[in-house]
Amino acid sequence: MTFDLTVHLTPDDIVRGLRSDVRTGLTGAPKTLPPKWFYDARGSELFERITRLPEYYPTRAEREILAERAEEIAALTGARTVVELGSGSSEKTRLLLDAVRPTLREIVTLDVSETALADAAATLAAAYDPVVVHGVVGDFTQHLALLPGSAPRLVAFLGGTLGNLVPDERAKFLASIRDTLDDGEWLLLGTDLVKDPHVLVRAYDDAAGVTAEFNRNVLHVLNRELAANFDPTAFEHVALWDYEQEWVEMRLRATRAMEVRVPVVGLTVSFAEGEELRTEVSAKFRRDRVAAELADAGFALREWWTDAESRFGVTLAQATG
Ligand code: SAH
Ligand code: AVI
Repeated sequence: MTFDLTVHLTPDDIVRGLRSDVRTGLTGAPKTLPPKWFYDARGSELFERITRLPEYYPTRAEREILAERAEEIAALTGARTVVELGSGSSEKTRLLLDAVRPTLREIVTLDVSETALADAAATLAAAYDPVVVHGVVGDFTQHLALLPGSAPRLVAFLGGTLGNLVPDERAKFLASIRDTLDDGEWLLLGTDLVKDPHVLVRAYDDAAGVTAEFNRNVLHVLNRELAANFDPTAFEHVALWDYEQEWVEMRLRATRAMEVRVPVVGLTVSFAEGEELRTEVSAKFRRDRVAAELADAGFALREWWTDAESRFGVTLAQATG
């Protein structure tokens, strides 16, 4: 089996990035942290548990679409390389890889979480031998120019992770994917869709409390990496629907007033009782918005598919000249 791992983010780079995000995010008003810091080994495992929760429908809905459309995607793209960004376990991706197998020569998986990535890439290498698997530890907002793989490439960005970027970040990110692709190459994009807010909020506030643990995990990451002294049990999980922005927001609400020290960045952060720290946005889309954002970035929408209940959308787009 052929498998290599390229590390664009060393542990030092990761701590440097975390320090900078913490300095900016915890001194701002309101306080915020970017969601990519959820995903240490425990956070990646908690996310996998989320994907199996009864309330969290996006994974199942996207899998339904991929199962139904994978052959069509393979026929349209004839991909020799599948590049998956924010790949996590790459579990659903196998539906796609199985379908493109006759033309497939290389698989590139990129994720910020080295543990999730190394396991998934090794599993893919064993399953798809002799296809070459390149695992890349990197940040999809920074390291796209360096991706290996022969044309035609199909970039897969699944799970609805696009929604975890705010609109400015999304525009830059989609443009950077376009920049790395040649005219005619492909993007397969999964987006969760606007729906009944109760269904949405339940998906982010499950009865078993797994999403609450996932949310608090970012505080464990700060304690470990920056020697901070957050008491995660003093923060409540909050999930709410923002009607204006059309996104679900996850927050951590301080249940008492407290001061938290973050020695590695020389910060002492005060929380008032009830003060909230925003840890994630998860934007929900409509077809028009997906098409417009793709067009702005230089992609033409070729296919738009939803699951039978129209909960989730998968778009096949092509880089245009
Ligand atoms: N694509 C999978 C996993 C989604 S979870 C699925 O559909 O189920 C989001 C994944 O993106 C996690 O594995 C996380 O580690 C990764 N991730 C989040 N922010 C990232 C970033 N900025 N760069 C690279 N990977 C990132
Ligand atoms: C990875 N991403 C698309 C997930 C989402 O639904 O926004 C992360 C997540 N956050 C809470 N539950 C799942």
